[in-house]
Amino acid sequence: MNATYQKLEACLKSVRAKTGFKPETALILGSGLGDFADEIQIEQAVDYSEITGFPTSTVAGHRGRFVFGYIESVPVVVMQGRVHYYEGYPMTDVVLPARLMGMLGAKKLILTNAAGGLNPDFKPGDFMLLTDHITTGVPSPLIGENLKELGPRFPDMSEVYSLRMRNIVKEQAQNLGISLQEGVYVQLTGPSYETPAEVRMCRIWGGDAVGMSTACEAMAARHMGLEICGISCITNMAAGISRQPLSHQEVQETADRVAVQFKKLITAVTVNI
Ligand code: HPA
Repeated sequence: MNATYQKLEACLKSVRAKTGFKPETALILGSGLGDFADEIQIEQAVDYSEITGFPTSTVAGHRGRFVFGYIESVPVVVMQGRVHYYEGYPMTDVVLPARLMGMLGAKKLILTNAAGGLNPDFKPGDFMLLTDHITTGVPSPLIGENLKELGPRFPDMSEVYSLRMRNIVKEQAQNLGISLQEGVYVQLTGPSYETPAEVRMCRIWGGDAVGMSTACEAMAARHMGLEICGISCITNMAAGISRQPLSHQEVQETADRVAVQFKKLITAVTVNI
């Protein structure tokens, strides 16, 4: 059997030895949203370190565990702390958690992240609904022998971010009085922030926001047929757009400033999607 699939099965077995919980919706939380788990009626938590072969996150501010529980009546699994390509893991490990949540039974995936704004109409603290993505800046997680147990060799990517879900997100944001931008997310490897020239390139490519996660997870999840929505928190304007040098502290501060609103939006989306 394929080594990537074998690893997934070992992880699945490891989680299943601890919980039989069957989630309907999976959530991956970005920087600053780690405490979203407080919104969940927690049934069980499984630390990544308890899962055989699981890539454990090294980024400060990212807790490493799956939280199983309910948001209102919706059974969810929440990935508290994600795995990033810049940590040095192979792409197949980076998307392992997303695939694992699909194998645990989740049919829907909500992705969140912190991102730099490329679109000059955006400002720090805005939320952006992902309409599409560009993964040209990172290796595809689907490279290698196809995992036919999960999906086809040449999967369609014409609607990675479900139109049905996008409409619900917009409706929920409107109900909550939260303004929502829309646009295309560009994933680059990081960990350095972009140069101003790279930012201009991303803009010419057609991007509205740039970050270091999400699109690879969306691609792997779409490969296995999950329905996906993604929301970015624009924590800063990308390099060269604002004159200020970028820092992780600025990213964290903006994410913290809008965390309450972000939590409200994600909760409403999860319940209604
Ligand atoms: N670039 C890349 N990733 C990011 C940024 C950025 O400006 N802000 C938050 N995550």
